[in-house]
Amino acid sequence: MTVKIDPKRWCEGRVHALRQWTDKLYSIQVDADVDVFTAGQFTKLGLVIGDEFISRPYSYVNAPGETPREFYFVTVPDGPLTNAMVRMKAGDPIHVMRRASGFLTLNEVPDAAHLWMLSTGTAIGPFLAILKTREPWQRFQRIILVHAVRCAEELSFADSIATLRDSYPEQFDFIPFVSREDTNFAIKARIPAAISDGRLEERAALEITADTSQVMICGNPDMVKSTQATLQERGLARNRRREPGHITVENYW
Ligand SMILES: Cc1cc2nc3c(=O)[nH]c(=O)nc-3n(C[C@H](O)[C@H](O)[C@H](O)COP(=O)(O)OP(=O)(O)OC[C@H]3O[C@@H](n4cnc5c(N)ncnc54)[C@H](O)[C@@H]3O)c2cc1C
Ligand SMILES: NC(=O)c1ccc[n+]([C@@H]2O[C@H](COP(=O)([O-])OP(=O)(O)OC[C@H]3O[C@@H](n4cnc5c(N)ncnc54)[C@H](OP(=O)(O)O)[C@@H]3O)[C@@H](O)[C@H]2O)c1
Repeated sequence: MTVKIDPKRWCEGRVHALRQWTDKLYSIQVDADVDVFTAGQFTKLGLVIGDEFISRPYSYVNAPGETPREFYFVTVPDGPLTNAMVRMKAGDPIHVMRRASGFLTLNEVPDAAHLWMLSTGTAIGPFLAILKTREPWQRFQRIILVHAVRCAEELSFADSIATLRDSYPEQFDFIPFVSREDTNFAIKARIPAAISDGRLEERAALEITADTSQVMICGNPDMVKSTQATLQERGLARNRRREPGHITVENYW
């Protein structure tokens, strides 16, 4: 059986490189002639597996205009696409949806003094894409990037984060969370708990308030939900097109 893939919607890219971070975490770099997108958006990657075309959404980690395109992913048990992608080699074909989607972008975020970017696991990707552009640095006085993982080895992209620290020493703060290991540098907690008990703000030396803050949240849907509920108790509200608020979210599953 031949699988039909609409060339108007999909372009055939080639794997540029596969970078392995841990036994489960990878970046796949792809050369693909995709449409212009906005930093923070996702596209879809697709492969023919058996006689099926399997496609899933992935956020761009690269800034618009930057090549190769990069996607950061975790292999999930029995996940068809992720377990196929880890076997790919440079030069292998992979389909990329031409048009990107998604609203985890700065044009959905009103101005404020401080921008908080809260992520779990692979969801640090879209925030790195945004931070590689000029806009956040022009619009916000302080930017706090939070990356929550289970184990310290899952704190990928240390090189990109060091570059941001060097480039914006007064403006940028990176706060790692490691929930299942003791470290001497990370907060050992989940994000909503560390907001409730004040540990996150103490570490940032900055308060999260409706008057000063915009908060972007991405990753594990249970984390997104309970972080949002915690912030709503403090008077922050979801951003709606007709009613600007303070919280912008994206769920990864
Ligand atoms: C808007 C959006 C953007 C996304 N961007 C990314 C991305 O940049 N990187 C990425 O790794 N995934 C991302 N995902 C998830 C991705 O689309 C796939 O679901 C995932 O890679 C697993 O694909 P699979 O075919 O191997 O398994 P599936 O059958 O699709 O997934 C099996 C199960 O694994 C769990 N799962 C899926 N994704 C994750 C994840 N990232 N972390 C932890 N558990 C997960 C869920 O419980 C899911 O039901 C995104 C999802 C959405 C909706
Ligand atoms: N990372 C691994 O070693 C590992 C091992 C086996 C399988 N996997 C597979 O990989 C997938 C992704 O794992 P992941 O580690 O990237 O993502 P994850 O399970 O979402 O964990 C990332 C971080 O989010 C926290 N978190 C989880 N649920 C939360 C909630 N409801 N509220 C707030 N914070 C929450 C975790 O804390 P807690 O530690 O407290 O949960 C952890 O600090 C898993 O779903 C699984 O399929 C990963």
